[in-house]
Amino acid sequence: MSKPPVGVNRTGRKLGQKVKKGKLKASSRRWIERHINDPYVQRARLEGYRARAAFKLLEIDEKHKILDGARRIIDLGAAPGSWSQIAAKVTDSTDADPRVAAIDFLEMDPLPGVKILQMDFLDPEAPEKLKEAIGGTPDLVISDMAAPTTGHRQTDHLRTMHLCEVAAHFAVEVLGEGGHFLAKTFQGGTERDLLNMLKQNFRQVIHIKPAASRAESVEMFLLAKGFKGRAAIEAGAEAEA
Ligand SMILES: C[S@@+](CC[C@H](N)C(=O)[O-])C[C@H]1O[C@@H](n2cnc3c(N)ncnc32)[C@H](O)[C@@H]1O
Repeated sequence: MSKPPVGVNRTGRKLGQKVKKGKLKASSRRWIERHINDPYVQRARLEGYRARAAFKLLEIDEKHKILDGARRIIDLGAAPGSWSQIAAKVTDSTDADPRVAAIDFLEMDPLPGVKILQMDFLDPEAPEKLKEAIGGTPDLVISDMAAPTTGHRQTDHLRTMHLCEVAAHFAVEVLGEGGHFLAKTFQGGTERDLLNMLKQNFRQVIHIKPAASRAESVEMFLLAKGFKGRAAIEAGAEAEA
């Protein structure tokens, strides 16, 4: 992908637009102004993506090549669906031969080639349903899940970290050898135990802050590359015992 479209208006819409003072609260007005002036929002509209989040995945892939050769992808926290759009494209997924399974507790508009489950990923039945939906071994598990905000920063942080942890354990359970796991996390928030678990199971574990992730946000991404495979891990554990 080319450089981020900072300050460039490729949609024909002006950047730097202001929302008139009126009945809106100042915080809502600031949110709307930031949204309509965000070059990634405009670019998503132009390129047909459902969310600006698409560019986070594309930027990460540009550097770390996680989509290359992916044949089956599971997308956790998928709505409105821009990561699933990319996943369906790279896997050549079709409704007749679906290669992408997506889950979100929010409703998501249908996408060709994507099996959508509207349910909570933390529901004990979700892992089995996702495995059934993907119909084969996935080589990529991506999670952009963020817990709904409560207004209490620490609670929100802990809840999103919990989602990341459950997603990581799910990835280790379902991925094929050589597969990758990408998940949203928070700056300084990844627990040592989770990092250790990932380092045992993957060849490389790194934190990434893509340019499309807002600078003021504490959001980061955790990428675990090259799953060693369950047989290798079990053999290692037996040798240690
Ligand atoms: C940042 S959005 C994802 C955007 C998406 N990657 C895209 O490209 O369109 C995060 C999503 O995670 C979902 N989410 C959060 N917690 C979840 C859970 N426990 N189970 C399922 N989805 C969850 C939210 O409903 C929200 O739609």
